[in-house]
Amino acid sequence: MNAQKTIPEIELHLVLEALRLRHGYDFTQYSRASLQRRLTLLAETRGFDSLLQLLPGILHDDACLDRVIDHVAISITGMFRDPAMYLALRDQVLPYLATYPRIQIWLAGCATGEEACSLAILLKEEGLLAHATVYATDINPAALAMAESGRYPLKKIAQFSRNHQLSGGRGLLLDHFHVEGEQARIHEEIRERIVFSGHNLVSDGVFAETHLIYCANVLIYFNHHLRNRVLNLFRESLVHGGFLCLGNQESLLGTSVEKLFREIDPDSRIYRMRTLRPPVLPFLDEADQEQS
Ligand SMILES: C[S@@+](CC[C@H](N)C(=O)[O-])C[C@H]1O[C@@H](n2cnc3c(N)ncnc32)[C@H](O)[C@@H]1O
Repeated sequence: MNAQKTIPEIELHLVLEALRLRHGYDFTQYSRASLQRRLTLLAETRGFDSLLQLLPGILHDDACLDRVIDHVAISITGMFRDPAMYLALRDQVLPYLATYPRIQIWLAGCATGEEACSLAILLKEEGLLAHATVYATDINPAALAMAESGRYPLKKIAQFSRNHQLSGGRGLLLDHFHVEGEQARIHEEIRERIVFSGHNLVSDGVFAETHLIYCANVLIYFNHHLRNRVLNLFRESLVHGGFLCLGNQESLLGTSVEKLFREIDPDSRIYRMRTLRPPVLPFLDEADQEQS
């Protein structure tokens, strides 16, 4: 398939329906532009002329299904990926979280776990790890399996070290890992404070009593309606006065929950839920449904 070619809507529809009906993965509310780009690339790498050639694999071959999920879900990540945001969390959010006897953090869309490790390292450096649990969730089972191992290539840790320093990191990033040949394994004390699990933001429910929700580089792949659905899920999961961190690629501007939050850090898009709640705005309308 040619990268310039647009996938006909009927082909896209049939492939998305096969994923939904056969496996329960519902990508129908993902941004059409992103789906077009990612599925065209996948068809190209497999030498297909039409997206429909993916159908037998999606229906009958688990390895093919895994490749499709990997392509559509996009699990690119890194440690301390946005240092300014970690610095803002360190300086402006953790001092509040420190006042709770137990801290619950939900990292939605954790990919292969690098950011879950980063958050747990941040908590350790600020003396809060023993009272905290990081629930790290994703829909991609292959990414979660890598995350659970807690192992990363040693050369990647070296690449992430500068970001760790820029985030206000105390000591060296490598101090938190055991070196095993070419691999680095996160210290057990840190790994055991992270709970990885499958959770689909399209269809699954709330994480109750969460103090901080961190969800960066995920909502950009969703359409307006799905974004509002997920933001409402986050609102319901947070304690009053809880924090929501979206990272510099997304914002609450123009969403159904905008008025329920106060912006704490405009650059890193860190928000705090207002304690007095105005009435919840409806988030479902026909315009939402049509937009992609
Ligand atoms: C680009 S990665 C972002 C990883 C990390 N938050 C970061 O910023 O480095 C997007 C992640 O969102 C996950 N994702 C996509 N759709 C999802 C859904 N419906 N529910 C949960 N996770 C999803 C993907 O599997 C992928 O791991």
